[in-house]
Amino acid sequence: MTTAPEWIDLGGVEELKSPSRRVVTVAGKPVALTFHDGRFGAVSGTCNHAGGPLGEGELDGEYLTCPWHYWKFHFATGEGEPGFEADKVPSYALKEEGGRLLITAKPVTRRNRLPHEPHPLTREIRREPGPVRVAGISTTVMTRKHPRYSGSEVLLEHALAHAAQHGAETKLIKLNELRFKACEGFYSKAAHACTWPCSITQMDPKDELDRVYDAFVHWADVVLIATPIRWGNASSLYHKMVERMNCIQNQVTIANRVLLRNKVVGFVIIGGQDNVQAVAGQMMSFFSEIGCVFPQFPFIAHSRGWTAEDMEANVAALKRSESLRQGAAELAERAMALAHTLLEGEGTDAKVLRAGRKAFDPASH
Ligand code: FES
Repeated sequence: MTTAPEWIDLGGVEELKSPSRRVVTVAGKPVALTFHDGRFGAVSGTCNHAGGPLGEGELDGEYLTCPWHYWKFHFATGEGEPGFEADKVPSYALKEEGGRLLITAKPVTRRNRLPHEPHPLTREIRREPGPVRVAGISTTVMTRKHPRYSGSEVLLEHALAHAAQHGAETKLIKLNELRFKACEGFYSKAAHACTWPCSITQMDPKDELDRVYDAFVHWADVVLIATPIRWGNASSLYHKMVERMNCIQNQVTIANRVLLRNKVVGFVIIGGQDNVQAVAGQMMSFFSEIGCVFPQFPFIAHSRGWTAEDMEANVAALKRSESLRQGAAELAERAMALAHTLLEGEGTDAKVLRAGRKAFDPASH
């Protein structure tokens, strides 16, 4: 025997037409109520993807767009956009009576989440056997088709070659050769809107920052990062990469999950002008916050100072400098030595304690 649905009075029909989108609470749950093209629709206000506030999204044609990562669901049927119709959020029945709009207390269609293949980066983090692995990340910005001499990149290559001579597996990633988008600040919408891997990586198969994530989280024991100094800071590409690595740090704050373990990081900082200590300090601050460790003397650097505008002389000095090449090689050696020590202790499965911070929890304040 079917029982008649329970109806709840939402309010006057005319008043509910404007604004045309709003979130109402039905039986304690958020429901997206939309008036579009002369008719009302009501669907769950909770997105299928990661629980985002679907009811707060914009309308794109007949589809509500979740403000977190832009999945779309029909404003009345709850079905996913064309091609994803079977991915549905629950929908509610509505009726008008005596100038009032009524909604069923329970949805009349069910939620259906289509299985989505997990992103390969979400695989278990397990160090595969083998020699120490050293990744180099060059963050210099130069015209791809007409590369010029980059002091930071040349020294990084020298450090990697030295690591290879000492038995390491090495890999060089030139950020300038990757296509990747800037961080959109999903975490600024809500802490849990920031996902691992980055939502951009999950949504855009053409985004190539997955190479950097893979090197850091899965492949490397040592990562050496090289940057020029630009107006007293690391390069713009370095900052673009680091902002996208926010998803690694956010796993610590929102999920108490430390993705990086026993990762040794060192830096090569080359400035036409000044500010080595500030650049090194910023880089060390960020990489310590995502769980990396540093060898003794974790960076090498070179700058001829504020008044050294004669860049040709700077490049010539770098090319001549045996001590900088030696410094790059020794940085690689120090980092590898620490990586060896950490790998020897790898057997302990001790959980990394929370990294000092967690996302603000209003309930505990
Ligand atoms: S698109 Fe809605 S939570 Fe991700």
